[in-house]
Amino acid sequence: MSTSNEPLAARPLSEEPPDVEAVVKGHARLERNVTLLGVATLIVVAIGGLVEIAPLFWIDNTIEKVEGMRPYTPLEQAGRDIYVREGCHTCHSQMIRPFRDEVERYGHYSLAAESMYDHPFQWGSKRTGPDLARVGNRYSDAWHVQHLKDPQSVVPESVMPQYGFLAETDLAMTDPSAHLRALARVGVPYSEKDIAAAGADLKAQADPDADVADLLARYPKAQARDFDGDPSRLTEMDALVAYLQMLGTLVDVNGAAAQEDLAAEKGR
Ligand code: HEC
Repeated sequence: MSTSNEPLAARPLSEEPPDVEAVVKGHARLERNVTLLGVATLIVVAIGGLVEIAPLFWIDNTIEKVEGMRPYTPLEQAGRDIYVREGCHTCHSQMIRPFRDEVERYGHYSLAAESMYDHPFQWGSKRTGPDLARVGNRYSDAWHVQHLKDPQSVVPESVMPQYGFLAETDLAMTDPSAHLRALARVGVPYSEKDIAAAGADLKAQADPDADVADLLARYPKAQARDFDGDPSRLTEMDALVAYLQMLGTLVDVNGAAAQEDLAAEKGR
């Protein structure tokens, strides 16, 4: 009968007994020498770190591409800059989480690809106001202009500040081409043509008389019209409303989510 408290000597002689004493001695040395323990710890942690980080050097992108997502037009990008400048992100997130209450209120949960061209991204869960990830096309331009000028005239109890000055301020994007080129450097796929045409695109998108066929070919689903109710001027309001009306409208989310699931399935 074999029990666990049988003495070591009872092992079959053919098997080398482990040199327990040497192992204990070696470990005691490691535990008592701070420098040695530090170096050994570093090596173990480095192995763990490498296993996590190394694959990222060999894959180009961690985000699954989905159909429809495209870089922002210069006007949308200008609107986005105003959005960040005015601190809209301090009250509004742009990330619908995959929970039932959020999906029922705001629409399909956000896909990673939908913010792949955001520098910086607008995620978060701090919401003094509602999430805006899918606010595009939900209201009319006139509603947005009225709401931005005087939120309390639309929602009496709103704590949102008034941004009427945006309609009085001419849009000044210092060098649209340089702006797009900077974004291209960090991975937004603007073509040379997009970069060269940035200044013209910026004006054309909010000009009801402009020929926008070329703009629409390069930026599918772009909405081109006067946004602020004053076609004679290109204002910051035009840019901000153009940006808001685009949010969440580029990707056919139901088709794209299935696409993402399929890709994850394949990758497994
Ligand atoms: C102090 C917090 C705060 C700031 C800053 C703020 N908002 Fe709001 N926003 C709110 C609140 C609260 C609401 C909900 C009540 C309402 O509609 O006014 C709201 C509502 C909205 C809505 C309507 C959303 C919907 O689905 O009904 C839009 C669009 C919006 N804000 C855009 C903006 C933009 C653009 C900016 C920056 C220029 C901004 N907000 C800045 C608090 C804020």
